[in-house]
Amino acid sequence: MNTHAASTAAGLESATAFAPASVGNVAIGFDILGFAVDALGDRVTVAKRAEPGVGITRVRGIAGELPRDPQRNTAGQALLAMQEALKLPFGFNMEIDKGIPLGSGLGGSAASAVGAVVAANALLPEPCSKLELLKFAMQGEAVASGSLHVDNISPSLFGGLVLTVGIDHPRVKQIPVPPDVRAVILHPHMFLSTRQARAILKRTVELSDFVWQTANLAGFISGCYTNDLDMIRASLEDVVIEPQRQALIPGFQDVRRAAMEAGALGCSISGAGPTTFAWARESNAAAVRDAMRREFERKSIQLDEWIVAIESAGARVIEP
Ligand code: HSE
Repeated sequence: MNTHAASTAAGLESATAFAPASVGNVAIGFDILGFAVDALGDRVTVAKRAEPGVGITRVRGIAGELPRDPQRNTAGQALLAMQEALKLPFGFNMEIDKGIPLGSGLGGSAASAVGAVVAANALLPEPCSKLELLKFAMQGEAVASGSLHVDNISPSLFGGLVLTVGIDHPRVKQIPVPPDVRAVILHPHMFLSTRQARAILKRTVELSDFVWQTANLAGFISGCYTNDLDMIRASLEDVVIEPQRQALIPGFQDVRRAAMEAGALGCSISGAGPTTFAWARESNAAAVRDAMRREFERKSIQLDEWIVAIESAGARVIEP
C-alpha cells in the first residue's frame, strides 16, 4: 500500500496518523487517568477500499507478530466499531508501524487503536468528534486487555494529562501539569501481559485503602490545578493496585525507594507494567532517572529511559 496519503476529487483516499505512547493510571487513577508520551508512538496508515470490512495488510516496527484478524487486533477492532456505528459504505485497509513495545505498560495497544481511528477519520466525508473516536478506540483496546478502560486511549488521543469519567458517555478533562514537572520513564526489557496483570487484582478494596486512595486522587488533581508540588508529592502514591502488582516487576520496590530518596514527587508502575515512571522537578529529574536505573541494573535488567515534559498534543494525522 502506498503510505503517502493520496487525494481525489472525492476526498482523501489514504492517511497516516501518529498516536503517542501513554502512562496509564498515574498511580492513583486506576483506569481513568493517564498522560501521553510523544517520545514514542505508533504510526497507522489507513486507505479506503471498495469492499466493506477491514484488512490489515502489513505490520512492521518493533512488534511484527500482531494478529492480522481485525477482530483480534486492537486497531482492526476499532475500525470495525467505527464502520458499524457509522454504517460506512466502504472498507479500510491498514498498515501498522509499531513504535511501542508490546506488553511494556506504555499503552501500545491503545495507540494502535487511536492511530487507526484518527487516520480513518481523515477519510470520512463528515469527520467524527474526538469523543466519538474515543468510543471506537475503546472497543479496540478491549481486545488486548479484556475490559473497556480509557486511561491510555484518552491521553493518546487528546494529549497531556487526561482524566476520563464514564464509559458509555465518557467525559474527558485535560488536567494542567505544573510546568516544572518532568516524567521520568524507564522501560525494563521484559513483557508483562495486561490481561494477567489485571487478572491478579482483588475484586474488593479495604475501606481504609479506599479512603486513602480517594484522598490521593483528589489531592493530586488539586495539586496539578494549583501548581502545588508539595500536594502532588503527598498524594502521588497508589495504595491499592501497586502493592498487588509490584512483585511482577523485579526490583520494583528498590527502584521506587531510590527514586523517592533522589527527590521524586512520586514513583509507580506505568499501566500494567513493567515500565516504571516517576514525576520529578526538572532540576532533579536526571538524578531520579539515574537512581532508578542503578536499581534495575543491579538486577541485570536492560532498559530504555526517557525524561519528558507532559505536553503531547495527542494523536494527529502526519501524512498528508
Ligand atoms: N489501567 C490499565 C491497568 C492500564 O492498569 O490494567 C493497562 O492497559
